[in-house]
Amino acid sequence: MVSEKAGVVLGYMVYEILSDRYELLRLAVAAKHQGKGVGRQLVERLTRKRTRRRFVSANVRESNLPAQKFLRSLGFLAVRVLRGEFGSEDGYRFEYTIQE
Ligand SMILES: CC(C)(COP(=O)(O)OP(=O)(O)OC[C@H]1O[C@@H](n2cnc3c(N)ncnc32)[C@H](O)[C@@H]1OP(=O)(O)O)[C@@H](O)C(=O)NCCC(=O)NCCS
Repeated sequence: MVSEKAGVVLGYMVYEILSDRYELLRLAVAAKHQGKGVGRQLVERLTRKRTRRRFVSANVRESNLPAQKFLRSLGFLAVRVLRGEFGSEDGYRFEYTIQE
């Protein structure tokens, strides 16, 4: 899914559709367009879906504090530590529960 304005790509998101959830695989907003709600708009396309799927999940590097704060601000919770998920680096599993 791509976010664009006047033919300019502001950001994109790649996700997998599984039986019980959406798995967020990639999410990025162009540096000069960060902090303007583009990332929020993209992720809310999943968290606000009317669907039988119950969760949106994402794995984030331990060092990526901005991404963790971003997900927390959208209502995601860190549910698990992922040991060695990113080579020598650990990560966190974040999960959002979609409202019925
Ligand atoms: C993380 C990322 C996708 C956020 O996208 P964005 O469009 O800049 O974020 P938004 O403007 O939609 O921010 C929504 C909320 O997230 C939080 N947030 C976003 N960036 C933040 C930061 N750097 N530090 C702290 N909180 C942040 C804020 O609460 C913000 O709400 P506010 O602006 O009302 O305060 C973007 O910074 C990015 O592309 N980062 C590099 C790639 C990356 O880390 N991808 C993994 C994402 S899980």
